[in-house]
Order: sequence, then C-alpha cells, then structure tokens
Amino acid sequence: METERNMGHEIIKTCQLLKEHVVEDIWRLAFHLMPETGWLNDPNGAVQYKGVYHIYYQYVSDSATGGLKHWGHKTSTDLVTFTDEPIFLSPTEWFDRDGVYSGSALVHKGELHFFYTGNVKQAGDYDYTYNGRSQHTIHVTSCDGYTVLRREVVIPHGKYPDDCTNHVRDPKVFERNGVFYLLLGVRKRSNIGAVLVYQSKDLTQWRYSGEFITGQEMDGYMWECPDYMMLDDYEVLLVSPQGILPTQYEHHNPYSVCYMLGTVDWDTVTFNPSSSLRLLDYGFDMYAPQTFVDEKGRRIMWAWMGIGDTEPEYTNPTVSRGWQHALTLPRELRIVDGKLIQLPLEEYESLRYDHVSHELMVDGLCRIPHLGGEVYELSIQCMEGTEAFELYLREDTSIKYIEQVLTLQHGTSGYGRRKRSLPLSVLRSLRIFSDYSSLEIFVNDGEYVLTSRVYPKSGEDGIAFGGKATIHIDKWALHTTTDR
Ligand code: FRU
Repeated sequence: METERNMGHEIIKTCQLLKEHVVEDIWRLAFHLMPETGWLNDPNGAVQYKGVYHIYYQYVSDSATGGLKHWGHKTSTDLVTFTDEPIFLSPTEWFDRDGVYSGSALVHKGELHFFYTGNVKQAGDYDYTYNGRSQHTIHVTSCDGYTVLRREVVIPHGKYPDDCTNHVRDPKVFERNGVFYLLLGVRKRSNIGAVLVYQSKDLTQWRYSGEFITGQEMDGYMWECPDYMMLDDYEVLLVSPQGILPTQYEHHNPYSVCYMLGTVDWDTVTFNPSSSLRLLDYGFDMYAPQTFVDEKGRRIMWAWMGIGDTEPEYTNPTVSRGWQHALTLPRELRIVDGKLIQLPLEEYESLRYDHVSHELMVDGLCRIPHLGGEVYELSIQCMEGTEAFELYLREDTSIKYIEQVLTLQHGTSGYGRRKRSLPLSVLRSLRIFSDYSSLEIFVNDGEYVLTSRVYPKSGEDGIAFGGKATIHIDKWALHTTTDR
C-alpha cells in the first residue's frame, strides 16, 4: 500500500515536470486531442451516452515514449471542445497488469459496457508472440462512463483457438437482432492476420463462432483493431494490418489501415468480402481507428494520428517537450459511389473566423497577399480539367497534382517523413486542416485522405500556389479549443 502511494507520488511529480515542457511547446495542438502529458495511441471506447461524447485512449501520462497503457478519458457535448477527465482504467488487476489495451463501448439497457484487452506478460526469456503473453478479453460495466461498476474476464486467453499466436486483441462489440457479436484481431501461427468472432445473448457468456474473416498471406501477418459496421446500406470491415508489403502507391508505412466491403453470412457468421483491402489513409500518420454511431445516427471515426514502429524512418520531436502523438479530427464516414469517404464533422465549422475567398488563375508560382497561417481550414475547388496544380504550405510541405498523381512531400519539418503519392484521375477539391503540428488533407470531398504530423518552425505560415489551374479558394483561421 505504502509503495503504491509512493509510486502515485512519483507519477504525479513526473507529470508535473512534463507539463512544464508541454505548455511551452509551439507544436502542441490547437484543435486536436492530445495527451495532457506523456504518450497517447489508439482511440478506445468511443460512445455517446446521455448526450455526452466520451472518448478514451491508450495513455501513458508519465512518459512521452510509451510504457504501461491506461485508458485516458475526455468528454464533450459538441465534439469540438473537450474536457480532460481522470484516467478511466488502469492496469491494476492480475488480468491486465501489463496494460489496459484497446477496446470498444456499447450502450445496452441504459448501462455502458466496455470490452478491452488485458495484456499480461510473464517475466522471463520469452518472445511474447509465441509464448510468454496472455491477452484476456475483459468486460467492464459503468452507469455513467466515469466510474467502473464491474470488471471481469469474459474470454480468458486460454480459450482462444490453438492456431493463434499470443496476439489476440482489440474487442469490438456490436448487437444485431438481439445477439451480441465480439470481434478480435489476431496473428495466426501461420503468420497471417484474421478476425475471430464470438456470440453472446447477455454480454457475459461468449461462444466462439469461428473466423469472421481470414486474411491472405499478402495481407499482413497481424490484423489489429477490427471494426464492422453497416454504412449507407453497405457492410464494411475495418482492420489495421501489420506487415503488408509496399506496392507502388500503397502500404509505405510500417502498418496500414484498410477497409473492405462485403456481406456477412449470419448463419456461419463470416464476412465475405466483395472488394480487396483498400487503404484508408495515404499520409504518414493514421492508425487503429475506432468508430461509433452518435445520437444523430452518424458513423464517426477517430484514429490515432500516429503509427507505431516508424523509427528510424520518421520521428516526433515533441518527445523532448513532454508529449507524443494525438488523435485525428473526428470524421464522419459515408459510402459514396461504392467508396468509403471521410468527412470532417460539420461541427468544426464553428471554429472558423477571418474568412477570405479568392478566384485565382494560377500560371506558375504565385501568392495571394496576406494569405497565410498556421491553424486554419483551407478549401480549394479546382476547375474541371485541372491537369497541374501545386500548393506550398507550412515551411516546406508541398501537395502537387501532376500527370494524374497527387503527391504530398515534406522537407525537414517532416522529421523523416518524405513523400507519399496516390493515383488520381481527377482533382476536384482539396480541403486541408492545418494545426500547429498536423495536416489532414481531404481530397475530392473525402474520397482520399492524407494525414501527417509535421513540425514547422514557429511562424512558418506561407501559402503559395503553382502549376496551371483555375481555382476557387476559401480560407478560415480556426479558433483554439485546447488549453494552449
Ligand atoms: C494498436 C495496438 C492495439 C493494442 C494497443 C496497445 O496500435 O497495438 O492492437 O491493443 O495498440 O497500446
């Protein structure tokens, strides 16, 4: 008990020290969710309950380089301004002592239910993939989202199928026709990714139904964070595969986020894809998304605006400033013309001020007097037939559309992030959300998205255009919602 109290004091002291650095950091974000101090990764348990939005996230408050994972917690009534809440779940039990890993939330009969992975590592000489690790599925109940009523193991690690490695995690629970389904992402012993599915009538007793879907060899060795949804009459499966080999334009990050369209056969409970794995983000920093349906019926997604294991290729210089990583903007998902599109939530229009609007005939490098900024939304409509367009912003980032390829390129401010491209037959529009150290680029109304962290020097606020195109521009400065 005494040691626990001392450890508590130590953590508080470390967080206070980190906070002193965080508040001085020019790269802390103005309208994105970031850790108060320390480390953040996946969004977890996203839910709206009695009007309040809750977002939890993988959190290590006392270290910017990661460590023992807790569930941090923020709440909001408008999805734009958030309040930091006390940590919701800490690794205090035998079944999660090495980390309260990712999971999801569900509202049933007025109560909140959370499912997460309790990570346990045995001390000793283990590889933690084939031996030495347990990942139990844990059920948590809460009557308000702030306090825990019960917390218990519902699927112990030993009950997973024998052909899985020790990597079995990230429960996503949903209900259909009075039956609950629980999905888990796995790495099979054959080194392919798959999604397992369990069924339950009461959220407590879970029966294994089999593999919801099994990846192919070329689809990576592990699938993390599965998520199944009905979206505009389509059935969609999201997964975060590790180990897909890069192709010309895709999978250049160590880990990818992909979606598939398909249909579920509810007799066999299997997902039969009708599309290949399609990449969800073409930038450098987007992983482990989490979706939920809000009271307005929208399917909203948050993702980690970061990826694991990017070093040494690219890094985040905020580590020495007491924090690392953030969440993307919450985005609405839709299916349009058989493609999953991502749209910034309309609520973010409330942050706009100082609107400027221009028609511009670009022919070679040009600027608009006084057009610049660090924290802004920039919307560009391109006239039909645009063949070459260039945009320069935030110190040394460019977005170029040349010969039907769109390329995002960073210079030194990318801290190792260099170039990502995607083939694009028509460029209709770009909508860019720039924060002090992030860029989210929505192409053609969310048909493609590129998400990147970028670390320009303070005051690097230039915006310039190039190529040969006729464009319409709207730009707004955006208000700060964080305690910057
Ligand atoms: C994805 C992930 C999850 C896991 C969590 C641990 O980024 O590896 O699979 O539950 O992070 O923090």
